[in-house]
Amino acid sequence: MSGTVGTAARSVTVRVPAKVNAQLAVGAARPDGFHDLANVFLAVGLYDEVTATPADELTVTCSGPDAAQVPLDTTNLAARAALALAERHGIAPGVHLHIDKDIPVAGGMAGGSADGAAALLACDTLWGTRATREELLGICAELGSDVPFSLVGGAALGVGRGEQLTPVEVGGTFHWVFAVADGGLSTPAVYGEFDRLTAGTDVPAPAASQALLDALRSGDSGALAVALSNDLQAAALSLRPSLAGTLAAGTGAGALAALVSGSGPTTAFLVADEGAARKVADALLGSGTCRNARIAVSPAPGATVL
Ligand code: C5P
Repeated sequence: MSGTVGTAARSVTVRVPAKVNAQLAVGAARPDGFHDLANVFLAVGLYDEVTATPADELTVTCSGPDAAQVPLDTTNLAARAALALAERHGIAPGVHLHIDKDIPVAGGMAGGSADGAAALLACDTLWGTRATREELLGICAELGSDVPFSLVGGAALGVGRGEQLTPVEVGGTFHWVFAVADGGLSTPAVYGEFDRLTAGTDVPAPAASQALLDALRSGDSGALAVALSNDLQAAALSLRPSLAGTLAAGTGAGALAALVSGSGPTTAFLVADEGAARKVADALLGSGTCRNARIAVSPAPGATVL
């Protein structure tokens, strides 16, 4: 672990991946407002790095192309993670958190959740609080439904709100392109639109697709392309109809499959290999239907102390 020796200017840096949902099956709204999910998470190799350094009080800074869009107050999940850990252990949250952000912001790739998980691991290491894995996962689940997966990485099925994880076997490398949209989409608004679109219908209980799990296990991108699904896609498209043009631009350039990533507005394109990824990324950039296009592979490891 880098820079942790001595007592003066020690710091801890944690690297943490983005995610894409290979399957996002959404049930009816629960009494607590959340939705039961069968959420097959895949960590993808786009990373934020969070560095925790001792300080008099809790402060957050951010660098990277989207840094201006990142809140630096206690609405930032990194700050909330530090506060939660400090409170549990009865210590002062004296830490400066610097987020070096490469994951697209407000995009359905769990960038905020990633920073929460990374800050938690960084502070636990810096402060020597030695929380068990179970305790860390419990704090992650309190911070947000996607945060436990950011800690764990790889591939996992999330049930309940998406926070109860079971590892999923992945037998190969999958290649992706992500089209980053202008502006964000509010996750609660997308779930609200899902409720509006499904009102009066019988929403089935969410269940993981065996075909999808088999495709992941075999590393077969053709089979995975057929099995990918996102029950929030219609809601995201309803709120942002222009995403249909982005999806069409990627499939027109040879993507095996295209779908909205999580609650959007980032769209995800599964491609056959690195060459296809470059072709699809170039076509997306040239189409004028997105702000940026990023290439990444999955699976990727979870939050890791560097
Ligand atoms: O858990 P998290 O804070 O990320 O959730 C943000 C919002 O997304 C919730 O307030 C809720 O509106 C919606 N949500 C949901 N069902 C889930 C996860 C999130 O309705 N399983």
